[in-house]
Amino acid sequence: MALYLRILYIITGLTGIEVSVKTGKSISIPCLYESKYKNHVKYLCEGYTWGSCRYAVKTNKPDPSGKYSISDDKNQQIFTVTIKQLAYENADYWCVVEINNGPDHGKYFKLSVTSWTPSLYVDHQRITGYIGENITIRCRHSYSGKMKWCRLGYHCVTGSSGSIDGAAVTTHMSKPNVFTVTMSGLKSENSGWYWCAKGDIQIPVYLNVTEKPITSKYSKLNYTFCRVPFDLKILIIPLSLLIVAIIVAFLIWFIIKQSKCY
Ligand SMILES: *[C@@H]1O[C@H](CO)[C@@H](O)[C@H](O)[C@H]1NC(C)=O
Ligand SMILES: *[C@@H]1O[C@H](CO)[C@@H](O)[C@H](O)[C@H]1NC(C)=O
Ligand SMILES: *[C@@H]1O[C@H](CO)[C@@H](O)[C@H](O)[C@H]1NC(C)=O
Repeated sequence: MALYLRILYIITGLTGIEVSVKTGKSISIPCLYESKYKNHVKYLCEGYTWGSCRYAVKTNKPDPSGKYSISDDKNQQIFTVTIKQLAYENADYWCVVEINNGPDHGKYFKLSVTSWTPSLYVDHQRITGYIGENITIRCRHSYSGKMKWCRLGYHCVTGSSGSIDGAAVTTHMSKPNVFTVTMSGLKSENSGWYWCAKGDIQIPVYLNVTEKPITSKYSKLNYTFCRVPFDLKILIIPLSLLIVAIIVAFLIWFIIKQSKCY
């Protein structure tokens, strides 16, 4: 039993999940693994049953077609698979850790590919937040119901407030069926994969928390105070020549006009 539980725990990332996604779009799915598998090969296997699934992409063997890609974040012990140009037949997958002398460990996930609006989605799967600031994530869903916001591999906020890794989390339903999550007082430790979940349907979201870049006001000021005088300097000579030419032309026209009158 203990062994069985241990194997089940291997890739607990998204346990038996289903992700709803629109045809033609891309989706990234994070797969969590145990730290002892850090240096193992990871791969995505396509197919409904474990026995009959086919390699789609491996960490040591990129997919030449570019449809599938994989990256391994060994610090967070999460590998991420991305599938582009989803079609109806792209439905059943396994996140797998290769074991050298023994059976590989895999965890199933399902994509429900639809030509309509997916039943649960976010506008952007990858978002950037700044240290010390707040970020708001909106999970849009087709059916009402209880929703939660979870850090992959850690815990979830199920009520209207809570905290994840030191960031305060508040949630509320805004408009019909928009689950709005605000994380405030972001820290760099809050970088990572999260998921919005409603029952078995989930959508993973990657939050990248970085230092806020130097405010763009400065570059605007630099533009205003340095670029414009520079441009004017170039223009001064042609402009003054043009003005002189106009004055001379005007004078000549005036003299000719005067002389014609008498
Ligand atoms: C960030 O969230 C906190 C707590 O919810 C709030 O007090 C603060 O005003 C928010 N800051 C911004 C810039 O929205
Ligand atoms: C996070 O954002 C920073 C700044 O835009 C970028 O340099 C970095 O590569 C991003 N990290 C990830 C994991 O996307
Ligand atoms: C604006 O110009 C100053 C002086 O030339 C420079 O030190 C500063 O880095 C510039 N700032 C930006 C954002 O380019």
